[in-house]
Order: sequence, then structure tokens, then C-alpha cells
Amino acid sequence: FEGGDKVRRAPVVSVMGHVDHGKTSLLDYIRRTKVAAGESGGITQHIGAYHVETDHGMVSFLDTPGHAAFTAMRARGAQCTDIVILVVAADDGVMPQTKEAVQHARSAGVPIVVAINKMDKEEADPDRIKNELAALEVIPEDWGGDVQFVPVSAHTGQGIDDLLEAVLLQAEILELVAVKDAPAKGVVVESSLERGRGSVATVLVQNGTLRQGDMVVAGSFFGKVRAMTDEAGKQVKEAGPSIPVEILGLNGTPDAGDEFFAVADERKAKELAEFRQTR
Ligand code: GTP
Ligand code: MG
Ligand code: NA
Repeated sequence: FEGGDKVRRAPVVSVMGHVDHGKTSLLDYIRRTKVAAGESGGITQHIGAYHVETDHGMVSFLDTPGHAAFTAMRARGAQCTDIVILVVAADDGVMPQTKEAVQHARSAGVPIVVAINKMDKEEADPDRIKNELAALEVIPEDWGGDVQFVPVSAHTGQGIDDLLEAVLLQAEILELVAVKDAPAKGVVVESSLERGRGSVATVLVQNGTLRQGDMVVAGSFFGKVRAMTDEAGKQVKEAGPSIPVEILGLNGTPDAGDEFFAVADERKAKELAEFRQTR
């Protein structure tokens, strides 16, 4: 870390699992929103980033798509994450993207907390989920393993408090720290060109503090942060460690997973961005 004192930071938690097992619905319940209902075809097609104050502490969530087509997005999600919540529908069991998510978490070296979702359904069979995941060596604590399995329902809210408690307990163990008082550094979650706004990039600050007016390099692009908003669209002036924000002002759209960092001035930014273009 550059300079400054280390401070505790919120865990960055990726919600992963097979398509339609209820990832977005769980986050909707936690955030008291209705994102899932508005999605085209009921399918998540991008990574959503949310910073949430829960009764157990602050958490930054990345909502990842479960559809088979989005493997690369899931891999990138797992790489900038401290903890994975693996969502498995209790009426459906372990499916191909459930297995894929376990692999991503493993290769990123990230601990898993299992949310056995849709417990409100009559067909719900949590023991089957435990058996199927144990076969992948994801062993429940009550079977002598080290993974917490929490039965939940995104519809009734059952177990969600326990899930957040399990996640924040895991975060305690990880002792997550960062330096707040340093130039911002982090990762691009996604970016796109929007009519009337230009390049819009969602970035996750991992260290330091990003401020409006900062000159940043993101992948092979650069620019002065003209405006910053949180996930609710509210303007913010700064974002510290573990905070996701949308920034305007880049001269292009960096790729998800690209690193970004603040630099002293435009000359330096240009030089670094150009250097990255040639690689
Ligand atoms: P993708 O992002 O497309 O992979 O899906 P997802 O995992 O985010 O699932 P989503 O939240 O879109 O939910 C899929 C369907 O399952 C929706 O119809 C939800 O209403 C339903 N669902 C989610 N959670 C629950 C639950 O706890 N109980 C019941 N009964 N239905 C649920
Ligand atoms: Mg979803
Ligand atoms: Na869905």
C-alpha cells in the first residue's frame, strides 16, 4: 500500500450460481429493490455493483449473471471478490453454472458461503444440495467441513439475516484492510457508451479514495472524472475502498476487469494509456 494508515474496509461479495436460482432476487430482498422483475427475459446480462448497509455491517455486492454465455464475466467477478455467495435453488440442485462458480471461487482463492435459496417451495430439499455440493468438496460445517450453508428464501426473507451474518463473520476472519488516504486504485466492473453521457464506467475502488476531478487511467483509456454517482444515481464527490461508483469522463470504454488508477496529471495519464494500447 502507498502511504496512509490501513483501515477496515467492507467485504466485496460476488453473488454467483446457476441461471434463475435467485441471485438478483436475493439482492433485491437485501436492498429492498425490484431489479429482477425489470430484467429483459428475467435474465441478468451484466454485473451489478451495490454498496449496502446491513444490520451486520457494510457489504459491497457484485451481482453476476448465471446464464451459460457469461463465463468470462463470472470469472472476472470472482477475481475482484473477497467472498462468494453461491446461490443454489433448493428445488433444482447443483447445475452446470453452480459447478462453474465453485471453480471460479477456487481458482480465485475466495471462500464460499452457500445460500440454499427458494426454501419457501414445497419441493425444496436442502439435504440434496448439501450432498451434491459435498461431492464437489464443498463440505458443510455441520458435516465437519468449513463451509456455511444457509437456507434462505428471497421471496419470504427467511434466513437472509443469517446469510448476512455468515458473510460478515467470514469477512471478520479475512481482516480486510485498505488505505483510505491514497490515490485511488481499483478495477473496472463494466462500461458502456450512453447517449448524452458518453463513456459510463462502473468501477470498484479497492484502495485509496477516488474524487470527482481526479485524472484516471482505466485500461487503455483515460480522462478526468467529470461526475460520479452511486448505484442509486445519486451524485457523490468521493468513493473510498470497497465502494463501487459510476464515473463519467473517460475517453473510451475500458473492459470489465481492467485496472484503473488515479494519476497526477493529464500528461501522465496519456502516456500510461498509450503505453497500454501498445501492449
Ligand atoms: P440470472 O441472473 O438470470 O442467472 O437469474 P438469478 O439467479 O438472478 O434469478 P432471479 O433473481 O432472476 O430469479 C429467477 C426466478 O426465481 C424469478 O422468477 C424469481 O421470482 C424466482 N425466485 C427467486 N428467489 C426465489 C425464492 O426464494 N422463492 C421462490 N419461490 N422463487 C424465487
Ligand atoms: Mg440475476
Ligand atoms: Na433470472
